Amino acid sequence: MNPNLPISVSKWLQENQTFFKPPVCNKLIYNDQLKVFYVGGPNQRTDYHVELGEEFFYMLKGDMQLNVIERGQPKSIIIREGEAFLLPARIPHSPQRFPNTIGILSLSFIDQSIYCLSIRSYLGLVIERDRSPNELDALRYYVSDEQRDHNNCSTIDRNCILFERWLHCTDLGTQLAPIMKQFFDSDLFKTGIPSNDSCLIEAPYADDVTTVTMAPINLSKWLKCAVEEIESVGWKALFDDDDDDRRQQWTTSSCYRYKTKVKIFGGDFKHRFEPDPHGETYFWQLAIKSQLEIDNTLMMLENGHSVIAPPNSKICLKTQSGGFTLVVSMSHSGQ
Ligand SMILES: [Fe+2]
Repeated sequence: MNPNLPISVSKWLQENQTFFKPPVCNKLIYNDQLKVFYVGGPNQRTDYHVELGEEFFYMLKGDMQLNVIERGQPKSIIIREGEAFLLPARIPHSPQRFPNTIGILSLSFIDQSIYCLSIRSYLGLVIERDRSPNELDALRYYVSDEQRDHNNCSTIDRNCILFERWLHCTDLGTQLAPIMKQFFDSDLFKTGIPSNDSCLIEAPYADDVTTVTMAPINLSKWLKCAVEEIESVGWKALFDDDDDDRRQQWTTSSCYRYKTKVKIFGGDFKHRFEPDPHGETYFWQLAIKSQLEIDNTLMMLENGHSVIAPPNSKICLKTQSGGFTLVVSMSHSGQ
């Protein structure tokens, strides 16, 4: 697969549909600096993941529930079909993907282009970035709610960790299973009571205990509201944490700033991108089509097609009125 050629997402999903069923449940479409993958279901798990990078979610079909520990308390974020969500760094999270009715997948954002997939119960897009050489992720299990009550823990902190292991993550698909097995084979799992073997006294970095997560955004509704601005200035950020009104609603107690950039481009414009020496740029055409030039290679980005531009490339995106192109980049550095 040439990463510099646009791929029809619906065709790729159809060709790879067996990967989205249990036990595999996911498949990477791009696997370099940006890890772009689609996740199927059902998949319910009790482990939490902690990482220095952010995670972008978009639900194509069905709803998912992202359990997080937010400011020391458990919270369930429901990301519904057609909604996008950007998870801040260092927030423990545990994705739950429930079975859904079999149906037709529609990627129609405006009115044209409906793509049909014959079997799909649940399908979500996830984008995260690769890890720096010394960067660590954590896989974590907490004590049960009963155990927490028994210990009078009103806040979920390191005292509530039953089992935690840190790893340099290069392949989530294969690296987590042996650690999970280690936990389920352990006395910690059998007793449910933390011991000296539960976790490091001091973690490589602390959880985020101040940020309040932003509500998921329904993309088609958002586009309807944003279309005028996009048509007049050429783009708009989907998770606009510089918007003061939005910040007021979003977070009251932290200064969190996303490193991930998710923007929707459109209108009759030519957009030149500043070359990013370390980061890739992901493009997904949501409506009509656009013309994309990556390092002097000219290509049409048809509706429903995606492509990745390598780090440091010279990019020029020519959009047209009525069209929308979703563009994602994630800073490579840790936070
Ligand atoms: Fe994660």
